[in-house]
Amino acid sequence: MDKTIKMVLTAGDLETGKIPINSPVVIYDVLRASSTITAALAHGARSVIPVLTSEEAFLLYHRLEKAGLPVLLGGERKGERIAGFHLGNSPEEYTSNIIFDHIIIFTTTNGTKAIVNSKKAGAKKILIASLLNQSAIVNYLIQEKSFTIICAGIKNEFAFEDFYAAGLMLHELLGNTKEKGWQLDDSALTALYIARHFRLNSVVIGEGTNGRRLIEKEKMGDIQFCSATNRYPVLPLFIKDRILLQSTAQLASN
Ligand code: MLT
Repeated sequence: MDKTIKMVLTAGDLETGKIPINSPVVIYDVLRASSTITAALAHGARSVIPVLTSEEAFLLYHRLEKAGLPVLLGGERKGERIAGFHLGNSPEEYTSNIIFDHIIIFTTTNGTKAIVNSKKAGAKKILIASLLNQSAIVNYLIQEKSFTIICAGIKNEFAFEDFYAAGLMLHELLGNTKEKGWQLDDSALTALYIARHFRLNSVVIGEGTNGRRLIEKEKMGDIQFCSATNRYPVLPLFIKDRILLQSTAQLASN
């Protein structure tokens, strides 16, 4: 039997309950949530806890801080750091000297929604994907029977860079054929074909609505950072309520 690859085009599509997820999911929010989570964990954050609202984030922060844990608040609304938060949603802010061994409570407009909603939709294995860790994602997915790609999108609308980055990952996974026993739905197939015909660079990644918004805010550096393929050979997994590197998750379960 063929292994299937499905694609969901926005985090909002998961909210209707019409898309039950019964395969592992791969979440893309290239600009910038999934890239920032990947960078934070690669730079030594203990874990990233995604939450939907800033109120939830503050409550959890006070609880963990009271318990004596090293904890920071990170994320954005309208692309800017939330008032009272330590960090925004720029991956370059998440340097080892600031975040090493810290728990990051994280909320963003679309990315954390895609992660939390995937779980609510039934996903058991949730991987956080970006260009920064493309090959690590591919190496993991090779062994899976089937999987679903979730593009975070922008406020329930399609986002070009998530779709395109997912296509690049599929191209690395499948090479120049779509055989190898995989059956792609039409969205995944389109993403693959588009990725085969456009060379990756930060100009392409920055051409969608999200990219133009970041350029207006003079955050071109973030687009360049998030466009670097395979900067980090790490695999972030959402387990129970937090995102951990696969290596840490394995240690914790031993
Ligand atoms: C999001 O989760 O909506 C984004 O990552 C937005 C942003 O980076 O500004």
